[in-house]
Amino acid sequence: MSQYESEISRRRTFAIISHPDAGKTTLTEKFLLYGGAIAQAGVVKGKKNTRAATSDWMEIEKQRGISVTSSVMQFQYEGFCINILDTPGHQDFSEDTYRTLMAADSAVMVIDAAKGVEAQTRKLFKVCVMRDIPIFTFINKMDREARDPFELCEEIEHELGIDTYAVNWPIGCGKDFKGVYDRAKKEIIHFTSNGGSKAATATQVALGDPNLDALIGKVLHSQLTDDVELLDGASCDFDMDRVRHGKLSPVFFGSALTNFGVEPFLESFLRMTTPPLPRTAGGQVIDSMDDDFSAFVFKIQANMNKAHRDRIAFMRVVSGRFDADREVYHVQGGKKLRLSRPQQLMAAEREIIEEAFAGDIMGVFDPGIFSIGDTLCAPGKKFQFDPIPTFAPEHFQRVRSRDTMKRKQFLKGMEQIAQEGAIQIFKTPYSGMEEVIVGVVGTLQFDVLEYRMRSEYNVELYVEGLPYEYLRWIRTEDGESVREDDLILGTDVKLVEDYKGNQLLLFASQWSINWTAERNKNLTLFEFGGGA
Ligand code: G4P
Repeated sequence: MSQYESEISRRRTFAIISHPDAGKTTLTEKFLLYGGAIAQAGVVKGKKNTRAATSDWMEIEKQRGISVTSSVMQFQYEGFCINILDTPGHQDFSEDTYRTLMAADSAVMVIDAAKGVEAQTRKLFKVCVMRDIPIFTFINKMDREARDPFELCEEIEHELGIDTYAVNWPIGCGKDFKGVYDRAKKEIIHFTSNGGSKAATATQVALGDPNLDALIGKVLHSQLTDDVELLDGASCDFDMDRVRHGKLSPVFFGSALTNFGVEPFLESFLRMTTPPLPRTAGGQVIDSMDDDFSAFVFKIQANMNKAHRDRIAFMRVVSGRFDADREVYHVQGGKKLRLSRPQQLMAAEREIIEEAFAGDIMGVFDPGIFSIGDTLCAPGKKFQFDPIPTFAPEHFQRVRSRDTMKRKQFLKGMEQIAQEGAIQIFKTPYSGMEEVIVGVVGTLQFDVLEYRMRSEYNVELYVEGLPYEYLRWIRTEDGESVREDDLILGTDVKLVEDYKGNQLLLFASQWSINWTAERNKNLTLFEFGGGA
């Protein structure tokens, strides 16, 4: 294998998904500790606060003490080069969170052992399933009172519709969380605390070993023996192919806070997950090992520096090697260009980079030329990666400028912010351009919108909340557009268009979606727009 090939094949790029407070940040931090990227716990969390100083609409972040934008971290562990894509953990997450998953090759789903599957996990999970990427489950907080592990696995299977395979099994929980049983090696990893920061030390003993009673106690030993028997008899076989296609989720138990089970998880995960996956461009498959560089933009972060109105475009390298000295071709812009100050985030720092390989994520300064989904490739090539789908917003407002004389700035601002992908804008068939309907995935984006319209475009917004919570793109059997009169709609449904002219329906309830689908058989409803 050439050095180039080995660089690519040692890369692992994944996102961590969870509901807020399940322990995503703590787990990330422990990964970074193992990789030596940070020396002590607290750095990742601390960053949430310090980062607020670097960008100014992050004022909102500061006030609310949360992080709006997702970030990327790279670190090395046992020969692997790992890129972790962080997804914002607060309820007010945005479409960016979904788009980040487009850049990942697998996902780690962190679940709170006392709470099971929660709302945000469910939403993010759907996007992973859409992409068929492998999903690994880490059931966290076993050092606290936890629900029955069988029940938790069942809930994942039932609620998320994915099979599970417990790679290890917890021995007790709460104060009695003694360790995990490794089903492949048929041995116990018994944890002993070491005060927290580095790896928990583990002793390995086989099930049935007389020493085990002394180690974990008779009761837990006998319960574990029963559990393992039940597991071996009842659970499905481990099938790597099904893991790779997101049909079977390997499940691990542990406690990120105390480090118990984190290292066994990380090691198995790295062994099971794939090197950078190919992406498609029209009918063409672009493989990570292809000679030429290619990448796509999956996120644009605005206004990092207010004086310059800079934006940073985050791109995922799909194939080949990026070389800072070479020009690349921006397909949608039809231009050759040199990427400006490409950077990577290494734990707490940003670093200007000279090269990057397939699997890596780069942030480049964007003078306003990139859009979500854009392709960059080697000059001479002209393919376009398949578009990133648009995800259905869940909150809607009617928005116009308080000052009617500022119509132009209003539209310009709204369109630019929508182009960055922070919001989606819609219009009703007969409405003029004075007002638009704004849809967002997380309500924080409304605050960001008002703040940015005021500070960047000098426009005060008049906003009015709308009762809709669901959106579906629609298609008729003959592909023709429809008028409201052509459809049987309840009073809580609204027909709108996006700015590409696609038609959509806004609904106030899931019930109403079903009602509408029942009565309008000629319509197909889509949860993801453009490409999914
Ligand atoms: P998130 O990124 O998914 O939102 O979760 P985060 O890691 O911030 O963890 C949320 C809370 O849960 C934190 O407590 C954290 O210390 C705790 N936690 C994470 N993993 C474990 C675990 O394995 N066991 C236990 N017992 N707790 C865990 P906090 O009090 O909200 O924050 P902090 O003051 O401790 O930082």
